[in-house]
Amino acid sequence: MCGIVGYVGSLPVKDILINGLKRLEYRGYDSAGVAMWQPEGLEVVHRVGKVANLEEACADKGAGSTCGIAHTRWATHGRPSEANAHPHVSCDGRIAVVHNGIIENYAELREELLARGHAFRSDTDTEVVAHLVEEYYEGDLLRAVRAATRRLVGAYGLVVTCADEAQTLVVARKDSPIVMGVNDDGCYVASDMVALAKDISDIVVLEDYQLAKLTPAGMVFCGVDGEAIEPEVIHVERDLEEAEKGGYPDFMMKEIYEQPRVIRETLDGRMVNGALSIEELDLSVEELSFIDRVYIIACGTSYHAGLIAKNLIEGWARIPTEVEVASEFRYRNPIITPSTLVVAVSQSGETADTKAAISDARVRGAKVFAITNVVDSSIARESDGVIYTKAKKEISVASTKSFTGQVVSLTLLAMLLGQSKGRLSSSQIRLMFRELADTAGQVEEILSDTSVIERAALACKDATSAFYIGRGISSAICYEGALKLKEISYLHAEAYAAGEMKHGPIALIHEGFPVVTVATKSPVYEKTLSNLQESKTRGALIVAVATEGDEKIKEYADYVLYVPKVRNEFSPITVSVVLQLFARYIAVARGCNVDQPRNLAKSVTVE
Ligand code: AGP
Repeated sequence: MCGIVGYVGSLPVKDILINGLKRLEYRGYDSAGVAMWQPEGLEVVHRVGKVANLEEACADKGAGSTCGIAHTRWATHGRPSEANAHPHVSCDGRIAVVHNGIIENYAELREELLARGHAFRSDTDTEVVAHLVEEYYEGDLLRAVRAATRRLVGAYGLVVTCADEAQTLVVARKDSPIVMGVNDDGCYVASDMVALAKDISDIVVLEDYQLAKLTPAGMVFCGVDGEAIEPEVIHVERDLEEAEKGGYPDFMMKEIYEQPRVIRETLDGRMVNGALSIEELDLSVEELSFIDRVYIIACGTSYHAGLIAKNLIEGWARIPTEVEVASEFRYRNPIITPSTLVVAVSQSGETADTKAAISDARVRGAKVFAITNVVDSSIARESDGVIYTKAKKEISVASTKSFTGQVVSLTLLAMLLGQSKGRLSSSQIRLMFRELADTAGQVEEILSDTSVIERAALACKDATSAFYIGRGISSAICYEGALKLKEISYLHAEAYAAGEMKHGPIALIHEGFPVVTVATKSPVYEKTLSNLQESKTRGALIVAVATEGDEKIKEYADYVLYVPKVRNEFSPITVSVVLQLFARYIAVARGCNVDQPRNLAKSVTVE
């Protein structure tokens, strides 16, 4: 949520900040701002809307400055406006702050600061930090920020600069990611590695309650009490093309087309000497065999990957599996015993609710295993084991390739559990693994000709609402299909287990109402066909996702989107690609910005 970038060194800061913000814009994009150090004081500029607006407003600003901070915002406290855009400044304008997270005790701090004569200009929680630092500032910015953070309750990634301390940035973190790095030109700080200079591959991930002071001479670190800290430096492989569209019209399309690679790389090294290997799980076959309950905790698209996994784990391992929305799980009183396995699924590894839910589960004694896309993310660090999904950086707010990585990883986990329970033999596992690997080529086949999907999408683009229906594992994939459509096209969509239609939703069907039906070959195929006909006879426009070679379905569907024949349990991998493309084509036809849908942010780091 929101993006932070800061730089101090020898290069002109303005371009570094603006380019960094553009790379971070996927995290939030309702307003943006910069503060650049100048001898006469901080030069602060804010603009509502995209970073391009800020860039234009900065055309004649920032001359000679080589130190500054910037922010792109996703509003929580205070509507999107120039006044609420970061950086926020102290009363005298000499201290500026950018912040990710939420200061939970801001109302009480604001009261206190107002009583002490501070004047507020915005409705944000962040502004209290600028005034608090001002309150404690006595010529040492690091000391003042340390004192201020001791007063804060909530989550923060902060970068602070001060007109009275040339070429200095101070950084602090609690529960909101901050990364830093150095090259020959200076020191960089950002909420996300993508905004660091491209040649930086040795990074420091600031930990909770740690602070850093950045100057052209380098970075020094300390704890809240001022004690010196030597942080771990992590070497990361940077993909320099990660933030480029590579010839595709948008990131979403690029990421959809990356899915065959994601499947291959997620499976790479998982079959060793004919046996399934998930070493990171760090549980022996015997320990695995004791697991008698699984909770999958996640939000949004990751939750939908969990719904698919429930079908697999219960089907293959016969272990009762609950899939829980993290924001609910954390406030329930779940039944957790030493034989419970909790699986946290999160693309970003930073989702606040998922993070809080796993902390709670660990306190209750569960073994927590994470499936995430981001190396060294908070959720990865706080889990007992982790599978990385190998999707690489996902820029589009709508998850596509990371979802596929999650489904493939969860499928492997389900197979392993099935084997450890003695329900899947080694030869079955080897056969299933080969079939799973084959889905990469099958997805390539789907991607090689998407013209029918596009035609079906154009037929539905003017609808006001759509249903997605399916049975069994296909109903789980329908939830994801409907979410994709909602978030990028602003078209209302709902998913139902197909058998539920006649219990209420069918009342909404009228002439031309799109009903996307996932009717691939499965034990419940005929039942799904009946549900499809119920809608058809009431005038629905039927878009059916079906198995190649199925001629019968043409009698009922207006558009048939074929997927290659796969084992029913693997069908979510191929079907989801079709539904992603279907949603994207509709969104583009409706003139929507598919990469940056309104009101959304890529990583939801606030509750
Ligand atoms: C889906 O397209 C969204 N990006 C959203 O639902 C997302 O899956 C959710 O916010 C969870 O994020 P996470 O996987 O990073 O935890």
